[in-house]
Amino acid sequence: MNPILSSPEIVVRSNYSFGDKPILAILTIDDDTQMFRGNRQNFADLLATGEKLGFMTYVVTIKHLKLSRSTVLGYTYDINEDVWSRAYFPRPNVVYNRIPLREDERLPRVRKKLMALSRHPNIQLFNRRFFNKWSLFQWLNDAKTTKAYIPETRRLTEIAVLSSLLRRHSHLYLKPVRGKAGVGIMSVRVQPEKNLPYTLQIQEEKGSRTFRCATLARLWNRVLKQSSVIGEPYIAQQGISLASMNERPFDLRALIQKNEFGQWELTGIGARVAGDTSITTHVPRGGYIEEPEKLLISVFGQDKARKVLSKVKNTVVTLARQIERSSKHKMGEMSMDLGVDVSGQVWFFEANSKPMKFDEPHIRKKSLEQIFYYSQYLHAAALKQSAGTSV
Ligand SMILES: Nc1ncnc2c1ncn2[C@@H]1O[C@H](COP(=O)(O)OP(=O)(O)O)[C@@H](O)[C@H]1O
Ligand SMILES: [Mg+2]
Repeated sequence: MNPILSSPEIVVRSNYSFGDKPILAILTIDDDTQMFRGNRQNFADLLATGEKLGFMTYVVTIKHLKLSRSTVLGYTYDINEDVWSRAYFPRPNVVYNRIPLREDERLPRVRKKLMALSRHPNIQLFNRRFFNKWSLFQWLNDAKTTKAYIPETRRLTEIAVLSSLLRRHSHLYLKPVRGKAGVGIMSVRVQPEKNLPYTLQIQEEKGSRTFRCATLARLWNRVLKQSSVIGEPYIAQQGISLASMNERPFDLRALIQKNEFGQWELTGIGARVAGDTSITTHVPRGGYIEEPEKLLISVFGQDKARKVLSKVKNTVVTLARQIERSSKHKMGEMSMDLGVDVSGQVWFFEANSKPMKFDEPHIRKKSLEQIFYYSQYLHAAALKQSAGTSV
């Protein structure tokens, strides 16, 4: 449940001393009924971590972050009372974008504010925008260092795309470019020796629905019908034969964040095992969490498992660097979904610039702290630069 919301008299919090630490605002969007949107538990955890590390931190909405003012109205959380309350805070030095929905981030007033923030000389904004799966594919496929990890992918615009991909791969994934949590995902399998050679699986709330078709034209009609429900462009992607344990495929979720030196670092990796009849591994769809080491050892044995894991660890940092470079915006964190195939090769599925909370406690703690260490780095780097240019 959400904590009780209250709006007691507004207090001004400005005469604290936080040394050289930046003031960090967690940015979200205002909401008419619940003050602001986003994962309140995540925000409360961030505020508690800020307090522990000696930072002034608050939640601020697009509406209240007025860049011409020296103080802004923000939200803070009282853990003992379990209440959110409003207070005036000094304008932030660093802004961490956690607007939770793509639709909200696309609103003109939100885009305008994000643009102004990114140009503001005294404010550092990070994680400015959501990714989409097609751009990610292009960015990573165009770079020599990352190309090898990317399944072959095309925009699913016509039947010819399906037929040409199916000539090279007997298994495909079809995914909405702006999808999340498995919504709208389909998979296609072709088995020419069968009477009904094409199998289409559609991800449902739990498990999946299966259709078998005699011809590609029939398959295409089904795909069109299904994708129009989502109303988003789709990509078609080479299906990877994921390594599996007890016949359940699994994949890896990595959290990569910048550290106190502004360098990408792996915060942690978890594994997700697919639900019984699901075509994805999402936990709300019947998937479950497991330790990557355990799964990899069960498939590959000790030695190879160690090699695969260290390959994954190096690869995610290379991928993160390239994604940030191509996105042309400053980033402090991203999560990544990766597959390991039956031969031990590592594959990139997607990256997310608004990572969900990791349930593994050791990853969770570090993930909260890194946000502050990176913010401090950003702030110090900006101060150094402005001192340099004003000389
Ligand atoms: N090309 C693929 N080959 C095999 N499995 C895939 C492929 N693409 C996606 N998956 C499976 O589906 C899951 C969801 O795909 P993903 O691209 O992460 O979409 P979403 O945004 O819905 O999370 C992945 O974590 C993986 O288990
Ligand atoms: Mg995913």
